[in-house]
Amino acid sequence: MVGDVEWTLTTTCAVVFPLVMLLLMKIWKKSENVGVDLPPGPKKLPIIGYLHLLSSGLDFRGFRDLSQQYGPIMHLKLGSRDTIVVSSPEIAKEILKDNDPVFAERPQNMLFWHNNSDILFSPYGEYWRQMRKICTLELLSIKNVRSFSSIRNDEVSHLLDSIRVSAGEPVNLTEKIISFMSSIICRTAFGKVSKDKDSVPRLVKEAMGMSATSSVSDIFPSSRIAQALSWGTKLRFMRMCRQLDVILDGIIDDHETNRKDSRRGNGEFGNKDLVDVLLGIKEDGGLKIPINSVDIKGVILDMFHAGTDTSSSTVHWAMTELLRHPQVMAKAQAEIRKLVKEKGNTNSMEEEDIQQLNYLRLVIMETLRLHPPCTFIPRFSREKCKIGGYTIPAKTNVIVNAWAMHRDPKYWTDSESFKPERFANEASLDTTGSDSRYLPFGSGKRICAGMTFGWVGVSLILAHLLHHFDWKLPHGVHAQDLNIPQTSVVAGPEKDLVVVATPHQSLPNE
Ligand code: HEM
Repeated sequence: MVGDVEWTLTTTCAVVFPLVMLLLMKIWKKSENVGVDLPPGPKKLPIIGYLHLLSSGLDFRGFRDLSQQYGPIMHLKLGSRDTIVVSSPEIAKEILKDNDPVFAERPQNMLFWHNNSDILFSPYGEYWRQMRKICTLELLSIKNVRSFSSIRNDEVSHLLDSIRVSAGEPVNLTEKIISFMSSIICRTAFGKVSKDKDSVPRLVKEAMGMSATSSVSDIFPSSRIAQALSWGTKLRFMRMCRQLDVILDGIIDDHETNRKDSRRGNGEFGNKDLVDVLLGIKEDGGLKIPINSVDIKGVILDMFHAGTDTSSSTVHWAMTELLRHPQVMAKAQAEIRKLVKEKGNTNSMEEEDIQQLNYLRLVIMETLRLHPPCTFIPRFSREKCKIGGYTIPAKTNVIVNAWAMHRDPKYWTDSESFKPERFANEASLDTTGSDSRYLPFGSGKRICAGMTFGWVGVSLILAHLLHHFDWKLPHGVHAQDLNIPQTSVVAGPEKDLVVVATPHQSLPNE
């Protein structure tokens, strides 16, 4: 009898104790932020969570609309995570400049490359520092970018030839721009054009799209609903990663084989390219944090993704805006053609000449204002911090809504219009994030690592397209048809730009 009671007591304790502990942990977790003066924000309803807000969309446009109600610093609970959305330059400055080290982390719940061993998503720390340094030294520094000018000029000739053969016919310019940018990345970072150069950006774009759709599950308050919703996406995402893995393994295998067969590097000029350097470091060791093949693949993917999507989206939007504003197109063309004429060479343009094209610079800056390729700057708080008078707890996701700030009428006159001239009178505005109204490349420690690489590629291709051709829309397509709103977070175009090019008359037959 006594034995029975003891057995019942022990069993009850064994079952009840863990349950009580679980309950206490849940209450403790819930009360973590109790009494913390979080910024205001929309209420998350039981069961449906933020479903009632879906009409405005929980994207950069929806967050801009919500910020008009709740203010420039807003709190939401996306999934189980505290998230702060920032929509004013003053608060962005507090995050990206005044408290840069606190917010130099990326959000932890973003689905991406394996264990986020690339640069873009890797946690702030020694590994990120060493990988960013290697990429800068070997590929992205101003000196390196200059040294690749012959590769860029070669690719420009291919591009112009491919447009000339379909002169007078509709041509898918978006596809050509992506292919151009992808070839440049391949030849400079991996030594030659990869046969998969066009499929990698497409796969990465799809994968990024999935990463964004997984956030739809964040709308719901229950982590179980969230998990069930994101399960299918995660599976599809993993399938996509496997496809990418095969392509990236191919690039690494090629490099390994050539490294064994010859003492020359795989670079176009017989030098070592970025992948050679990373493989060498992997073998020799000598780094504070050793790297493996997965890390190298993460970096290759970063270069493809961060380097191709952003730059090609900028050229796509610049050409779209120029077609919608023929007087701006004419002014930009006149500047380029005048410079080429003055140089006495009607056919070619040196890269140094292109850097002197002041109006073209204004056109690119205005394009990046209205269509920043990264609409959000994603960060994460490493410790508790006071921002805008509110407390931001440690481990909070932070979204700086650059898209909203770039279009805020409080800071920009006639903010929705494409007016490159506005930048002529704004001496303080550059691309380095020094003025928080304008953040196309981000700011602070995690500022874009490929800013020079990107800027040079974008200005080169635009200068040549505008110099060599006159552009119009295909029969039956009107400028207002190009007014397609941007929807994705990494703001690639929703629809390809199809245009008709005519070789510029004053140019000799090329
Ligand atoms: C017009 C072209 C481009 C734009 C507008 C752009 C924009 C951005 C932005 C907004 C960020 C986030 C910055 C932040 O958190 O503060 C970023 C990060 C990054 N970008 Fe770019 N980018 C461009 C081109 C490129 C190119 C060509 C490359 C490389 C070939 C590149 C490589 C990177 C890398 C590696 C990061 C991660 C930096 C880090 O987390 O430390 N980008 N870029």
